[in-house]
Amino acid sequence: MAKFPPEKIAEVRDRIRLEDWVGRTVQLQKRGRRWVGLCPFHSEKSPSFGVSADKQLFHCFGCGAGGDLFAYVMRIEGLDFPSAVRHLAAAAGVELPEDRPADPAAARREAERERAYSVNAVAQEAFRAALSRDAPALRYLTEERGLSPDTVERFEIGWAPDAWSYVTDALAKERLPIEPAVEIGLLGRRARDGKPYDRLRGRVTFPIRVPGGRVAGFGARRADWIDPEGPKYLNSPESPIYDKSRVLYGLPLARDDIRKKRQALLVEGYLDVIVLAQAGFTQTVAGCGTALTEAHARTLARLTHEVVTLYDGDLAGRKATHRAAILLLAAGVEVRVVPLPEGVDPDDLVRQSGAEALAERIESAPSAIDFFLQRARAAAAGGGVSGTRKAVEAVRPLIQAIPDPLARDVALDACARELGLDRNTLRRHFSRPRGRARPERDHNPRDLSHSGGGPTHRQERASAPLPHVVETELLKICLESPAEVFASLESEGGFEAFRSEPVRAAMRAAKTAYDEGRGFSGPEALEVMSLEGLTHAPWLAQVTERLVRDEEPEAHQIRDLIARLRDRWRKAELAALREKLARTTDAEEQMRLLEEEERIRSQD
Ligand code: UTP
Ligand code: MN
Repeated sequence: MAKFPPEKIAEVRDRIRLEDWVGRTVQLQKRGRRWVGLCPFHSEKSPSFGVSADKQLFHCFGCGAGGDLFAYVMRIEGLDFPSAVRHLAAAAGVELPEDRPADPAAARREAERERAYSVNAVAQEAFRAALSRDAPALRYLTEERGLSPDTVERFEIGWAPDAWSYVTDALAKERLPIEPAVEIGLLGRRARDGKPYDRLRGRVTFPIRVPGGRVAGFGARRADWIDPEGPKYLNSPESPIYDKSRVLYGLPLARDDIRKKRQALLVEGYLDVIVLAQAGFTQTVAGCGTALTEAHARTLARLTHEVVTLYDGDLAGRKATHRAAILLLAAGVEVRVVPLPEGVDPDDLVRQSGAEALAERIESAPSAIDFFLQRARAAAAGGGVSGTRKAVEAVRPLIQAIPDPLARDVALDACARELGLDRNTLRRHFSRPRGRARPERDHNPRDLSHSGGGPTHRQERASAPLPHVVETELLKICLESPAEVFASLESEGGFEAFRSEPVRAAMRAAKTAYDEGRGFSGPEALEVMSLEGLTHAPWLAQVTERLVRDEEPEAHQIRDLIARLRDRWRKAELAALREKLARTTDAEEQMRLLEEEERIRSQD
């Protein structure tokens, strides 16, 4: 086996983030959207080695080493390219075709897949060539659909002529067998005599490329001037090379921009992807004529933390949105919903109101939970208890889908606020299974009643005093950039400056985790603080909300906060000393206190 299938290489690349892999051996610190650390390839004292999360490339300004994930592994493990691919594929759980060389059935399947890809490659060439020769089809794309020649080129739109053997002949000319083409739905066979014929006739074709760049199938739209009656779209069926539950249309072109813009737009149609990309929304993808699946959601979650859906405003579109939102939330991404009028798709919207109008809608799109909450409330307006219940049920699956307890808690709080319900009542309600008994939920860590360290049980006890915002801000930054915070804190005299016992305890726990090379997350910090008696629910909710936002801390921010922390500490110490001084009559004690005061003042 000389070469790996490009989609396998791409799959490995998609599953492993470079910064995660590098982070196993190199202590990386986040700097904006880059990660920096000491170069593993040469010895140095100050970090000149960086990993770009957007580009998935590393570079060392010290020794000049650089490259992608595979280059990194080749270099650090001393492997050749195939070995690096095998090494990474094994780690990512990607099965490479040569993994079972002794299995003839697998080898045959692999050969079949290769043939199928070859068939599609030939068909794609033929469709492209046909478009350049077909004036009405070109006119349709440019004039009626408003696509520029660049866009047609970029998306490699083609034309299947209104003929019975255009593709069949093209394949014959390349001496490719007919059977694979029938199997992947490009050709049909006449019932009468088994003679092959083209299935796509008189249609605009959209090649569907998979990671790695090969064509797995086609979407083909009816040309109304040839046949206004036929099915609007004919799409390649599922086949050994085309798994619709995994493929997202437009992904190979959109991937980098999804990373860079930290956002994916999810639409329903091929033309929506194309028109949006032309309008500058290059982070757009669509399903391939199927509903969004878990695999789609996972793919998007590996690229970004935010997906914005732009589905039709009709009932079917809303149902699809609801379903997609649940899967996306479960995959750990935030979901926002752009409400569209009924029967209007993003393509229509851009053409009616322009790109800025769409940008505004995206900008102001509510979270999926807010969107469904508001809809349900509007629908149930005046419905009293049963109306509220309906609204609760509409968002319940969305909230329960969120895997991160902290983020889920925030969503639950927002829901309670919106509906005017007590959060603990709602929490209890959500923790009870609905309809069919789902006993596993009782001990499910996702169960809402178990999150947040259980302050509900200790409600009677008075909560510890609320910490100052300087302290919680530092804790928050510490969760994101522990190295920077601890480095500055240590040179400034450690944790004593934290006046809040619970925050100090959380900082200590964070430090221990840091020293042991473990991560320390927001939920853990909240847990520690709750255990230390900080049980004031509204405050916890507020902090929770702040802890989940991840803005990049700037270096001066940490310095400023620590300076403020020290300043507060000094003032409090001085005030305490003065109070003691006022009360003591012992001369020796007074001397000691005055010296102490001098010492603290001199620390300015
Ligand atoms: P639409 O009917 O909204 O089509 O279906 P469209 O993309 O907006 O096309 P125009 O603008 O009328 O030309 C949305 C998507 O659903 C899938 C296609 O992916 C389509 O882009 N679809 C629709 C099918 O797969 N088959 C169909 O028969 C219809
Ligand atoms: Mn449309």
